[in-house]
Amino acid sequence: MTPDFDLQAHNTFGLPARARFGTTVTTADDLVPLLAEAKAKNLPLRILGGGSNVVLRPCFDGIIALMGIAGRDIIGRHGDQTLVRFGAGENWHAIVEWSIAQGLSGLENLAAIPGTVGAAPIQNIGAYGLELVDRFHALETFDTLEGTTLTFDRDACQFAYRQSFFKRAPGRYVVTSVTLAFPNAWQPNLAYPGLSDIPADADAKTIMDRVVAVRASKLPDWRVTGNAGSFFHNPIVESAVADAIAAYHPEAPRYPGGAGRVKLSAAWLIERSGFKGFRYGAAGVSPNHALVLINTGGATQAEISELAGQIVAGVKSRFGVELVQEPELL
Ligand code: EPU
Repeated sequence: MTPDFDLQAHNTFGLPARARFGTTVTTADDLVPLLAEAKAKNLPLRILGGGSNVVLRPCFDGIIALMGIAGRDIIGRHGDQTLVRFGAGENWHAIVEWSIAQGLSGLENLAAIPGTVGAAPIQNIGAYGLELVDRFHALETFDTLEGTTLTFDRDACQFAYRQSFFKRAPGRYVVTSVTLAFPNAWQPNLAYPGLSDIPADADAKTIMDRVVAVRASKLPDWRVTGNAGSFFHNPIVESAVADAIAAYHPEAPRYPGGAGRVKLSAAWLIERSGFKGFRYGAAGVSPNHALVLINTGGATQAEISELAGQIVAGVKSRFGVELVQEPELL
């Protein structure tokens, strides 16, 4: 274990942050002694995947374990699907590319999402008309409260838009592997704007390449400009709230939100509240995409969090809609 562990290179915002101790987990078996050590030291234990969905405070008085469990095992056919188990530490985009190279189509719409396999189910990652839940079979976890190993099937994970069971008890369950289901009779999913001109007989690689290009044109690359992707959920509101906005702004994007509710575009609300390209110290709102907060160089957690607070207050006062932050403040 490394004392006074530097986390700046381990969060895609590039925020300066340290932990009392840091280590790397390479097998699920590492977790039992690690938990024992955390208890002996009376320190909290948190696992960090790619650090792409966190806002790190400057000092974490606990143990940070980087998730490094590898593994790509084709289990075989299961009904009309092929199951593949991935270690939680695998890089998400790398397994999207790898699966397509194996002839397993199905993850192409989720290309180029930063982060690890183990983090993907926590917020049910989604993009371009597909969510993780659509390709999910099961996952294995280590319960840091009970010290036990548990398997969760799809229902047990309680997936919803950017939600899962695991968000209710942040950090309690460490995902160690995720088994995905690839449809044997794969069909391209080209409904999302930006993909709709792709020919219907396109292969998964063609779609993946387009998704990579669309993302690169809209979203800042965290390797160049620190960010954590979408900083807020798209708010799901009662239809009356959406109708009240539409009365003045018929152009406001709206999508079905389930149970008669409406999902609004947080990017649109933020832009119309005047924040696109706004700077607060070294924190800012991307001039290319209003849903992405950026570190323009040397930003601190305080600046990011204060800017986020200003945006929440601004959108609330302009549109009466409460935005909810997506990355976890750790
Ligand atoms: N828009 C604006 N201003 C902007 C950017 C977008 O008004 O600055 C409007 C666009 O006109 C468009 C709408 O917002 O009508 C939606 O934009 P976009 O297609 O970029 O999608 P999003 O709703 O902003 C969501 C996900 C992204 C995902 C894209 C594509 C959430 C919170 N975000 O963004 O996920 O890549 O759809 O499917 O659901 C992430 O979670 O980190 C992430 C990047």
